[in-house]
Amino acid sequence: AHSCDIYAAGGTPCVAAHSSTRSLYGSYNGPLYQVKRNSDNTTTDVHPLFPGGVANAGTQDNFCAGTTCLITEIYDQSGRGNHLTAAPPGGAATGPEPGGYDFVAGATGAAVTLNGLKAYGVFTTQSTGYRNDNTNGVATGNEAEGIYAVFDGTHYNGACCWDYGNAETSNTDTGQGSMEALYFGTSTANGWVSGSGSGPWIQADLENGLWSGGATYQPGDVNPNNPSIDYRFTTGIVKGDDTNLWAIRGGNAQFGLLGNFYSGPRPTQPAGQDQYYPMRKQGAIILGIGGDNSDGAQGTFYEGALTIGYPSDATEDLVQLDILAAGYGTTSQTSGPPVFEGQVITLQDAQSEMYLGHDVNDVYVVPSASASTQFKVVAPNAPNSGCFSYESVDQPGTFLRHFAYQLFCDSPNNSDRSPGTFADDSTFCPETGFAASSDNAFRSYSYPTRFWRQVDDGNVYIGTQGGPFAWDNWYEFTTQASWKVNTVSL
Ligand code: AHR
Repeated sequence: AHSCDIYAAGGTPCVAAHSSTRSLYGSYNGPLYQVKRNSDNTTTDVHPLFPGGVANAGTQDNFCAGTTCLITEIYDQSGRGNHLTAAPPGGAATGPEPGGYDFVAGATGAAVTLNGLKAYGVFTTQSTGYRNDNTNGVATGNEAEGIYAVFDGTHYNGACCWDYGNAETSNTDTGQGSMEALYFGTSTANGWVSGSGSGPWIQADLENGLWSGGATYQPGDVNPNNPSIDYRFTTGIVKGDDTNLWAIRGGNAQFGLLGNFYSGPRPTQPAGQDQYYPMRKQGAIILGIGGDNSDGAQGTFYEGALTIGYPSDATEDLVQLDILAAGYGTTSQTSGPPVFEGQVITLQDAQSEMYLGHDVNDVYVVPSASASTQFKVVAPNAPNSGCFSYESVDQPGTFLRHFAYQLFCDSPNNSDRSPGTFADDSTFCPETGFAASSDNAFRSYSYPTRFWRQVDDGNVYIGTQGGPFAWDNWYEFTTQASWKVNTVSL
């Protein structure tokens, strides 16, 4: 039995079941997710290899060869049609896509294996989010529900809010108790409470507050029973019933059982404010954003579901066993001609054959090779990325990084450009080139729809083939974003 079969047997069936990696029912053989390729804007669906099986990653790989691809829809496997697509603009933020919609995830940002079979997770960055405001069967009002998700416990940040769960249908903040979602990250904005240590934590987003569980619920409170948790594959659970009971549980999605981080009453708010009980759930579903489309957070989603009814701990313990049996594991994030640590390289784009070089911190393409066009491939500054970083040879201690979508050559603490996101933004994965398989394309770890791209102004950006910015121009993408890698020395 798979997770949603187990919930059904426990009397708390899934009313939404989302996964880009596998079927959440033993008999499910429908589509898992939709990818759109940017070369011609056509889409295809990725199905499981067999009923109940792992996603057929080969469908995506073949369809997306030579271009960039997006995960445009994550299908609901429950039969209720609660699919997730790009989130519309909300009270807190308007997304960068036309109409103010958020980005959707790049399709190759989170390769994993399940019992040795390759699949792709949903790697979401700032401004990326999915939503469905018109659902069927999801808990509303004070109805009980359960939520579980499997995600990458090493990919998070401190911004609001990497959520999966129940939110407002209006995309605006309608007050305490309008949401019940699983949150993952380190946000302690607004004096929000936290778990122990420095995070990240699994918490509940109940609107106008990320709650770790605890007795007093004063701003800045710590729930010592809610640990920092950063397993590469993490299981998280939030559930709330129709009395005043709610709970947080979590564990390692590759090993062992779930811990109980909190079970008890909902937070009490100061007199005169909206209270969290009774709940006023609205039944929209969000992924990667807050209820009001707060869109600063990042995270990676592999699978999850919402149930109707309050699942028992025993049911969730069986769900965890199914997750363990799914056999999540890491795999290579690179493809194309091998690029390896210690290699000193120069890079020529396939469009102009000019060299990627730098002048102190500025990055350009230049006509000929010199010391300033040499970069050393080094261990990734984002340690769990499976990618690399690229250190200047003539200016050691500086690395290629993107900032505001443009490439620079910075030291980690250059305060001109967001040192807080330096590690992620200076990490890039070599993939097979778009124009020729003898070339590489360099995918941004932190924005995996985006690749190093020289455009005709001589600057280098992280661009995609058709997107909202000037450097996303469809024309000449495949050559401008493919690079010949020359080895200088070993
Ligand atoms: O509750 C935390 C966040 O606060 C919600 O996700 C968002 O809607 C509001 O800004």
